[in-house]
Amino acid sequence: MTKRLGIMNYKGGMGKTSLVVHLAMGLVLNGKRVLIVDMDPQGSVKAMLGVKALSGTYELLLGAQPFSQCITPVRDGLDIIASDERLFPASMQMVGFPNREFVLHKRLEAVINYDYILIDSGPSFDLLAQNAMVASQRLMVPISMDFMSIVGAKQLLKNVKIINRLFDQTICVQHVVPTFYMQRQLKTAKVMASIDALFGAECVRNPIRSCADVSNAAGLGKTVFEYKPKSRVIPDYNQLVKTVMIEGDN
Ligand SMILES: Nc1ncnc2c1ncn2[C@@H]1O[C@H](COP(=O)(O)OP(=O)(O)OP(=O)(O)O)[C@@H](O)[C@H]1O
Ligand SMILES: [Mg+2]
Repeated sequence: MTKRLGIMNYKGGMGKTSLVVHLAMGLVLNGKRVLIVDMDPQGSVKAMLGVKALSGTYELLLGAQPFSQCITPVRDGLDIIASDERLFPASMQMVGFPNREFVLHKRLEAVINYDYILIDSGPSFDLLAQNAMVASQRLMVPISMDFMSIVGAKQLLKNVKIINRLFDQTICVQHVVPTFYMQRQLKTAKVMASIDALFGAECVRNPIRSCADVSNAAGLGKTVFEYKPKSRVIPDYNQLVKTVMIEGDN
């Protein structure tokens, strides 16, 4: 069965897209077939993977092209539905659609030829994010080691409750992933304690350390798995991949 996961936090620069592409690549290296759907008009997924795309999320959401034509294959076992700045006007058009929060959900309903669909979102709570939330149902929330990032996570939790109540959904936060982790910082310990208190320690996953290899790899359109397989951040991503695979099987 295809499992869907939405990667989300309303605060910008939490490492969402980096997490999406490394989780996807890690799953692919474990033999899984993965699709990434980019719901952020910034279009960072395709940039981080070093590809260009002729069509993608814009065409998918507006129903302008069949699903198969919205896909860009990027690596063996990894496809993306890429976005660009046209997503913003697309979301304005979607405001007039019936069941506008369920558009992505509908478009992905019949897609079964992947083990995982990972949905990346931008740093805001707009109609695109609401669509990502409803389509994924299970969320992964990256939180950087900064007090302001807790604020974004709190807002996210509130909005999950609102969406669940308004639309009779059962959306939940399944994984909380500390990012930009620096072990010996006093602030890190305090933020980690707040994360545990807010979400419950059972859904807090191993942290992803702060490591320049992540941004250096992105600059070359590669994942760290490809750019520097011996990087010290690789065990962090691998551990998370393992957790996601185990959790998904339960
Ligand atoms: N673990 C890490 N260590 C060091 N740099 C990182 C790490 N993860 C991400 N980065 C860098 O931080 C920046 C922001 O990361 P990213 O684009 O993944 O965040 P985002 O939450 O998706 O941002 P936005 O909210 O704009 O979509 C990028 O330059 C990325 O390369
Ligand atoms: Mg992003």
